[in-house]
Amino acid sequence: MYADKCILTGVKPTGKPHIGNYFGAIKPAIEMGHQAQRFNLFIADYHAINFMKAPELLQKEIKEIACIYLAAGLKPETDYFYRQSDIPEINEITTILYAFTPKGFMNKSHAYKACVERNLAENKPADDGVNMGLYTYPTLMASDILAMDTDIVPVGKDQIQHVEIARDIAGAVNAYYDKELLKLPEYVTADNVAVLPGTDGRKMSKSYNNVIPIFEDEKVIKKAVYSTVTDSKPIEEPKNPDDVIVYQIYKCIASAQKAEEMAQGLREGKLGYGHTKAMLLDAVLNEVREAKEVYDYYMAHYDEACGFLEEGAAKARPYAQKTLQRLKETLFG
Ligand code: ADP
Ligand code: TRP
Repeated sequence: MYADKCILTGVKPTGKPHIGNYFGAIKPAIEMGHQAQRFNLFIADYHAINFMKAPELLQKEIKEIACIYLAAGLKPETDYFYRQSDIPEINEITTILYAFTPKGFMNKSHAYKACVERNLAENKPADDGVNMGLYTYPTLMASDILAMDTDIVPVGKDQIQHVEIARDIAGAVNAYYDKELLKLPEYVTADNVAVLPGTDGRKMSKSYNNVIPIFEDEKVIKKAVYSTVTDSKPIEEPKNPDDVIVYQIYKCIASAQKAEEMAQGLREGKLGYGHTKAMLLDAVLNEVREAKEVYDYYMAHYDEACGFLEEGAAKARPYAQKTLQRLKETLFG
């Protein structure tokens, strides 16, 4: 389905993922990318400086995210894995795209609007703390996508609008010069991927503090798993698995057969919550054991990961150079 396509996605270096991010976004994006002819995955470091300015912190986050993606199955030899800031043409293309970006698009953009709404709710001026990087974020994101002749962008629901903006900007450029200078990208959301509940039963999310972390020590993961909310029914009382949060998380990561075993044990009053938590912990640790080894390896040998990023930039950069050249030849005659 994607065999002749370029799939591209960008990740902001923002903290270690939880199992919801890992199974709900990171793994599915890589699996989809590996069905494509070319898979570009880049670390969006210019986007990150809008909200993270301390160099040490930024470097730490970039290192972590690079190791996480390598651990999650990225293939650095065949995939295009790079840092956004290693492709300076992206920024030059952004400048060109500004001339075709209606200011109204930026006013409506999701990331900026959320910030304004937060400010107003706190009785602050609407644009408090808003820098131009945040305000014009969708144009840089459009350049990330358009520079690389991208066909498909796998995204979470919150990013759909940004891909639509990229498509509209590309359409405006093409229409003005009456030729296909930029490829129109499409977004894909992974609808078949389950939303993992967190330890309190709401959607697992950093902002709810209900996460099970993934690339942490076993002790930290155990503590999170055992904090999953349960009621006080004794072991022998039959339980409806749909009401048991531990089971709801478990069935998203364990095999169908194992999930059914837990469901049956709960229905028949043969499994207590302590058992189910031990099973969940086992499943989390098993699912990520290999990945954690790869993660630990690259954290200890980061120079190798940096080598991959440099090679990836060398492979990806010619695409951006060609796009820029095409634009400049047409724009400046
Ligand atoms: P958080 O809610 O923890 O801040 P983000 O909004 O940064 O997570 O989400 C990053 C990616 O992970 C998005 O693509 C999102 O769809 C996915 N994701 C986040 N939470 C979950 C979850 N509980 N289940 C499945 N996918 C998730
Ligand atoms: N905006 C995306 C996010 O917040 C990250 C990103 C930057 C991106 N540029 C991109 C995603 C290009 C897809 C394509 O998660």
